[in-house]
Amino acid sequence: MIKDISDFWLSQPITPCETIQIGGVDVVVKRDDLNHEYVQGNKLRKLKYNLIEAKRKSVDTLITFGGAYSNHLLATAFAAQACGFKSVGVVRGDELAGNAAIWSETLFNCQEFGMQLVFISRSDYRLKEKSQIFQHLIKSKPNSYMLPEGGSNHLALEGVSELIPEMEQQLTTSPTHLFCPVGTGGTFAGLVKGVTKQNWDCKVFGVAVLKGLHGVKTDINQWLKGVQFDPNFVILDDYHAGGYAKKTQELSRFCVTFEQQHQIQLDKIYNSKSFYALAHLIKTGVVTAKDRPLVIHTGGLQGGVNK
Ligand SMILES: Cc1ncc(COP(=O)(O)O)c(C=O)c1O
Repeated sequence: MIKDISDFWLSQPITPCETIQIGGVDVVVKRDDLNHEYVQGNKLRKLKYNLIEAKRKSVDTLITFGGAYSNHLLATAFAAQACGFKSVGVVRGDELAGNAAIWSETLFNCQEFGMQLVFISRSDYRLKEKSQIFQHLIKSKPNSYMLPEGGSNHLALEGVSELIPEMEQQLTTSPTHLFCPVGTGGTFAGLVKGVTKQNWDCKVFGVAVLKGLHGVKTDINQWLKGVQFDPNFVILDDYHAGGYAKKTQELSRFCVTFEQQHQIQLDKIYNSKSFYALAHLIKTGVVTAKDRPLVIHTGGLQGGVNK
């Protein structure tokens, strides 16, 4: 039985905006890492209108993709169960099939929340919806709704863009610089959309967490088609520390010091890089004490914090 979707979203807290100091500059942190243990950070925002749409279409199953540590997979599993859908997770890596000894905690949690896990090879995973295995799966579940990897699509942007009016209520002045990490690009595009709608005079910075974002930039432009945004945004390509889930000693040292100073944990894949990028722009004088930078903490703490 599909439950009322808005009940789940309305029962989540409004996350605080906290001001901390980085290099002598006041930085506002939107603590979306505090919104939900499993549907955390940007996931709560990105899933909202997708689940409403799934309900409108009267489907009974959500199908999505992810790696063994995917925040999106876990968030989908939990939200699906909370809202009365079944869920299927198509997971990268057929070596995991029948070999729970090498499963991540994320996968066990997904299963606990009722998600059926289907493991596919890396080459099939690259093909996603076009792979034969997925085509078979979708035929066997005709009453389903497909969420792309990372949950990024037009409806995800709608949910993320709601952060802007929410923060407007919380802040006395709007920020001059807004920062977030960029994986599949939906969060960044949603922020650009929200800033545009709210008429904020604010530059949006997306910090790429992986190398070679060409496809992601194409997707972002596609999602933002028709949005009359001032091209006042930029994707920073220099802070991925070697690629997805990679780190440098400097990045690790930054995270340890940051967490000690501010008691805010940073996940090792996404927020460690966006917070580091902001600190670096402050250190190099690009962002100064005259500016009002704001960084969105997008959660991801289940996937492992910096150690
Ligand atoms: C915690 C966290 N932050 C940021 C991102 C990046 O968001 P997006 O994929 O919308 O670029 C992700 C991945 O989706 C994530 O799990």
